[in-house]
Amino acid sequence: HLAEVEAFTTDSKDAVEAFRIKYLGKKGLLTDFFAEFKNIPNEQKKEFGQVINQLKNLATEKVSSLKAQLEQQTAKTGQFGDMTRPGAPIEIGVRHPISIVKNQIIDIFSRIGFNVSEGPEIEDDWHNFTALNLPEYHPARDMQDTFFIQTNPDILLRTHTSSVQVRYMEEHQPPIRTISPGRVYRNEAISARSHCFFHQVEGLYIDKDVSFADLKQTLQFFTNEMFGKSKIRLRPSYFPFTEPSAEVDVYWGLETETDYKMTKGTGWLEIMGCGMVDPNVLKNCGIDPEEYSGFAFGMGIDRIALLLHQISDIRLLSENDIRFLEQFKSAL
Ligand code: PHE
Repeated sequence: HLAEVEAFTTDSKDAVEAFRIKYLGKKGLLTDFFAEFKNIPNEQKKEFGQVINQLKNLATEKVSSLKAQLEQQTAKTGQFGDMTRPGAPIEIGVRHPISIVKNQIIDIFSRIGFNVSEGPEIEDDWHNFTALNLPEYHPARDMQDTFFIQTNPDILLRTHTSSVQVRYMEEHQPPIRTISPGRVYRNEAISARSHCFFHQVEGLYIDKDVSFADLKQTLQFFTNEMFGKSKIRLRPSYFPFTEPSAEVDVYWGLETETDYKMTKGTGWLEIMGCGMVDPNVLKNCGIDPEEYSGFAFGMGIDRIALLLHQISDIRLLSENDIRFLEQFKSAL
């Protein structure tokens, strides 16, 4: 035992404690040896006594010296352990693709003087429909299937952010240059291509002598900056709040198989609706249509995100699957 105690060494606190319990604990070896003392023949008592005392001292010393040694080590490395060890990596968050695209759009329009306006997702009938030249029973109300929260008076989830433009015009006189990003809701079947909620950016420009040519030039600038594509075409269309109205297509090209698939072999992609604000809408919002004119446009952020990042299913944008989201680490 003497030799064993002498040779014992460790750098673990637990091992020192186990050692202490083995020799010096209440039920340890030394307690046994001291109990054994009275059975020892008298002539051996002296020698036995000396040896067990020696063992006791040695073990006590060993425990305190090992403890001191361990404490010194912890002092050197600090309470956090070895300070030279490489740290655990900190996962840095990443912007959602919707936010990335939204910020790109805001950035482009802010360079030509547009500010950003926002409004509530829960709307009344006036701001979502009536002020926008969609009176009650107007058939075009069915163009957007609406989620109603309450009827009579109607409270609903906005179907487009045109409602924000109405609110903006009610509060500001021209010149107005604003874009309204936000989430909108439509009662549509959920599939890879469409969801019951998505995101829009709508734009509004009202001033003296604003023309259709200004609209086209503004959209040309946008598509150039956003997609690096400068060829666009405007197809006649219908919206109750604009007259004339148009659908904007960007020429994507037919260079790759993906181009071919995305554009169904035409090379053209529809990216937004637009038009000259109907004089009725200006009147409804307290702006004199004799003095002012303007244009408006609206696009879906989700659709553009799918396009730019070649995402095959719109539902991925709202599932919060980290394996999907972390792929946007390098995208701005
Ligand atoms: N509000 C229309 C929509 O949600 C888009 C639009 C905005 C069209 C402005 C023309 C002018 O579909």
